[in-house]
Amino acid sequence: MVAFRLPPHSRIRLGKTWPVPEGAKEVLTVHVYRFNPEEGGNPRLDTFQVDRARCGQMVLDVLIQIKDQIDTSLAFRRSCREGVCGSCAMNINGRNTLACIQPISELGESITVYPLPHQEVIKDLVTDQKHFFAQYALIEPWLKTTTPAPERERLQSPEDRAKLDGLYECILCACCSTACPSYWWNSERFLGPAILLQAYRWIADSRDEATGDRLDELEDPFRLYRCHTIANCTDVCPKGLSPAKAIAEIKKRLLMRSM
Ligand code: SF4
Ligand code: SF4
Ligand code: FES
Repeated sequence: MVAFRLPPHSRIRLGKTWPVPEGAKEVLTVHVYRFNPEEGGNPRLDTFQVDRARCGQMVLDVLIQIKDQIDTSLAFRRSCREGVCGSCAMNINGRNTLACIQPISELGESITVYPLPHQEVIKDLVTDQKHFFAQYALIEPWLKTTTPAPERERLQSPEDRAKLDGLYECILCACCSTACPSYWWNSERFLGPAILLQAYRWIADSRDEATGDRLDELEDPFRLYRCHTIANCTDVCPKGLSPAKAIAEIKKRLLMRSM
């Protein structure tokens, strides 16, 4: 019989429990995944007790309070604090999202925070996104033209511009790709929902003149067709976008041109 167990060095052990802060009236319990390759050993789950009265409304505020006042060694990414940079993506109570726009009030009595799933962990909540961004570079995410440049900008009608709605807003947070089972198992060759949505953003752009080449690059059993339309990606996107729809549009374009 096949045994599905994590290898011993990956198993998460119980970590440190920090005491309730002095004078705290409303305590929030926060479990946080910790891993420091320099220390060696297995990852662990630390438990922090946070005074709600002393922190803001979002999960990122809680993490900042922990780092400022309890354990300065906690590592996580963040920048904008407004849901626009994509750097604070993590798994909160089992769901990939952006910590800076996830209200604590929606999460109940305790919060559990893990790094994004199926990415290598550099430290604590910081994952290695080299491969993800290498895949982004692969789709050549810029306007490609062959006709001579106009004197001023390349114009686009309001109708054509509207076709980019639901695509240009993607912040490359990787919440969708790391929630996609097909991407978990085939990330070396399947581009995943985030990168495919970005690819479609350029295919859908009326000013781009490389549509044929872009479709050629995607017409591959792994790069595109590993998507099985499970739609976890659309369900999880914190920006309300639909990578599954963008992928379906790419498949439709490929079908149309083959007819
Ligand atoms: S589609 Fe949504 S979840 Fe995926 S990378 Fe873009 S913003 Fe993040
Ligand atoms: S719809 Fe495709 S890309 Fe999205 S989660 Fe499912 S398999 Fe992954
Ligand atoms: S800090 Fe920029 S999206 Fe959260």
